Amino acid sequence: MWLGSAALTLILFRIFWGLFAGDYARFDRFSLRLSALSVYAAQLIKRTPPSHAGHSPAGSWSVVLILAITLTQSITGLMSSDAIFTEGPLVPMVPNEIVDTATNIHHWVSKMVLAIVVLHLLAVFYYEAICKQQILLAMITGSKKLQGQTARERPAAAILLALAAGGLVWLIYLMPEIW
Ligand code: HEM
Repeated sequence: MWLGSAALTLILFRIFWGLFAGDYARFDRFSLRLSALSVYAAQLIKRTPPSHAGHSPAGSWSVVLILAITLTQSITGLMSSDAIFTEGPLVPMVPNEIVDTATNIHHWVSKMVLAIVVLHLLAVFYYEAICKQQILLAMITGSKKLQGQTARERPAAAILLALAAGGLVWLIYLMPEIW
């Protein structure tokens, strides 16, 4: 549960970052048109994907998918129970039927989390080893070299937003007492 809550903090931070801060990582800079995705997919199959300063169409969709799956996993975890001695912090606040449904979804979506992790690792390997594009370093450092120029993510509000995400998760734990 601690690891799940840490994951939820990171997910909320990434959502705040995409909405309120960031530059290349902002959601409104994502390329989510299906036509762009199909053109990019064809280039990807030919092993010649163009370099993007921010997220490519495939990268944009993968962020949306990963956030949706992991957010579903974390939120259902807050209401999950093993009916013995492990239960999420919101269990005392919600009816039993919702706890049962959330626990079922939590188990089921955990398989999707594993699948998306494997797919993500395979995609990174494909870019790095086959397309010879360095995306791993860019994902870690937030900066990428493009034809001599450096595209750099601006970490200005990162600490504030990380604290806000942590505060929100803390509030979730306090909610049953406030309730
Ligand atoms: C991305 C985040 C998360 C992942 C990948 C994850 C994964 C899992 C998995 C695989 C199980 C099943 C374990 C088993 O069958 O023995 C599980 C159970 C559980 N998780 Fe999470 N979890 C996450 C977030 C959370 C959060 C945020 C909470 C609550 C704070 C939570 C609370 C629980 C509880 C109470 C169970 C027991 C349910 C049961 O055994 O029926 N999880 N989680």
